[in-house]
Amino acid sequence: MKDHKEQACNIIILGASGDLSKRKLLPALFALYCNGMLPHDTRVYGYARSKMDDQQFREKITANLNCRYTPDSNDCAEKMETFLKMCFYQVGQYDSIQDFTALNERMAKEKRADANHLFYMSIPPDIFIDTSCSIGGAGLMDVPDGFWSRVVLEKPFGRDSKSSAILMKTLKSIFDEESTYRIDHYLGKEVIQNLMTLRFANLIFEPVWNRNYIDWVSIAFSEDIGCEGRAGYFDNFGIMRDVLQNHILQIVALVGMEAPVSLDAKHIADEKVKLLASAAAITAAETIVGQYIANTVDGEEKPGYLDDDEVPEGSITETYAHTIMHINNPRWSGVPFYLSAGKALDTRKTEIQIQFKDLPYSIFNGTGKENPQANKLVIRVQPNEAIELHVTNKVPGMGMEMEDVKLDMLYHDSFDEELPDAYERLLLDVIRGDRSLFLQDEELRVGWDIVTPLLHQLEKEGKKPVQYPYGQEPEHGCPA
Ligand code: BG6
Repeated sequence: MKDHKEQACNIIILGASGDLSKRKLLPALFALYCNGMLPHDTRVYGYARSKMDDQQFREKITANLNCRYTPDSNDCAEKMETFLKMCFYQVGQYDSIQDFTALNERMAKEKRADANHLFYMSIPPDIFIDTSCSIGGAGLMDVPDGFWSRVVLEKPFGRDSKSSAILMKTLKSIFDEESTYRIDHYLGKEVIQNLMTLRFANLIFEPVWNRNYIDWVSIAFSEDIGCEGRAGYFDNFGIMRDVLQNHILQIVALVGMEAPVSLDAKHIADEKVKLLASAAAITAAETIVGQYIANTVDGEEKPGYLDDDEVPEGSITETYAHTIMHINNPRWSGVPFYLSAGKALDTRKTEIQIQFKDLPYSIFNGTGKENPQANKLVIRVQPNEAIELHVTNKVPGMGMEMEDVKLDMLYHDSFDEELPDAYERLLLDVIRGDRSLFLQDEELRVGWDIVTPLLHQLEKEGKKPVQYPYGQEPEHGCPA
C-alpha cells in the first residue's frame, strides 16, 4: 500500500449542513491541511439535502475554520483560500441511489486519477441504513485494486443491545469490518490516548493498579450547559445512551483492562472487550437519574429541560446519571467504579480519580498529629488536561504536621505542542488506515449489555427522574 499522502482522496461528509460537520469535521480537516497531513490531492465533498452551491457551502464553513497551527495571518488567509477551493457541495437525498450515483459521476469527472474514498456519516441514526444502502448501491464501495473506500460511523449505534445488534448486522452486509470505522471521539482525546502509556510505560503504576491497593475509581463527566439547541435529538436518548454507554465505558475499559499483546487494534479491542464483559449490568438500586429544572445561575435565568420547545411535555429523559459499576475479575473484584454524567451541572469537566487505600499501619497514628491521607491519582481529561498524584507531605517547620500535596503535570506547562482536537487525530487515522482508536463491534455489544437492562427497566416503570436545579449536581451519597 502506498503512503497515505500519495494517493488522491475524496472525503465525503454526509450531513454536511449539520452542526458536527461545521463545528468539528471541517475545522479538523483544515487543521490537518495546515499541518501538511492530508493527502496532497484531497477533495472534500459536503453532501446533504439542503440546497446550496459550492460557493455557499464555502461561505457557510469559513467562520469555523481557525488558524491555530498557522499564527501568521498572511499565511492563514492563503491557507484558508486554498483549503476552501478543495471543498465542494453536492445536494442529494440520503435514500437515493440515483443521487449517490450523481455524486460518484461528479467525483469521477473532477478527479484526474483514481482516488480513495472516505465517507463520514454525520447524519441522524434513523437514516444510517438507507444511506449505507445508497452508498453501496451506487457502487461507491467498489474500488480498484490498491485503493480503499472507508466509512466512518458516529454514535448512537442503536438504542439498546437488540437494536444495536440489528444495526451492526445490516451495516456489515454493506461494509466489510476492515472498511468500517466506528468513532467514539473520546478515544481521540490526548489524555485518553495517554492512559495506556501511563499504565503500561511506567513501572510504578501497574503493581498497585488492583484491588489490593485501590479503594475506588471514579469517572465523572459534567457539562455546565444544558441541552439547548440539541434537545430534540437528546430527548430520544438521554445521558446514559449519549455519554455513559460510550465515552464513559470506553474510559472504564482503558483504566481497567489488562495490557494488550501489542498496540494492534484487534489486541487492544480484545482486552477492552474482556474487561467490559466481566462487568455486571448496572442496577436501579445503585443508580440515580436526574433531570434539570430552571434556576438562576450567576444572576442569569437558566431554563429547565422541560421548558425547551423541542422536549415533549412530561418527558422523563434523564439529563444526569450516577451509577456504580462492579467488575468481576481478579484485578477489580470489590472495587466500585463510580460513574457519572450530567448536563447543566456546576462545571465543565471530565475527570478520572483513582483513590488508593489507607496505609495498612501508620507510624504516625497516635502522635496527636494529623494522619496521612490516602494517595489519589487524578487524571483530568478536560479542561486543563493534567495528571495529579496526591501525596502526604510533612509541612516544613519545627513541628510534624502533614498535608496532602499534589505532584502535578499540567499538559500546558510540560509540553510545547498544541493539543490536537480529537477529530483531527481520528480523521487522520482513518486516512492512514489505523483502526486502533476505533470501536470494534464486540465492544459495542458488551457495552450495551451493561446498560440495557436498566434502560428497559426505567422505561417500563416510567418513573420521573429526580429534579435538580440547573448548575447543581444532585446528591448521590458516594465519595465521587
Ligand atoms: C457527545 C455528546 O458525544 O459528546 C454530547 O453527544 C456531549 O452530548 C459531547 O456534549 C461532549 O464532548 P466533549 O468533547 O465536548 O467533551
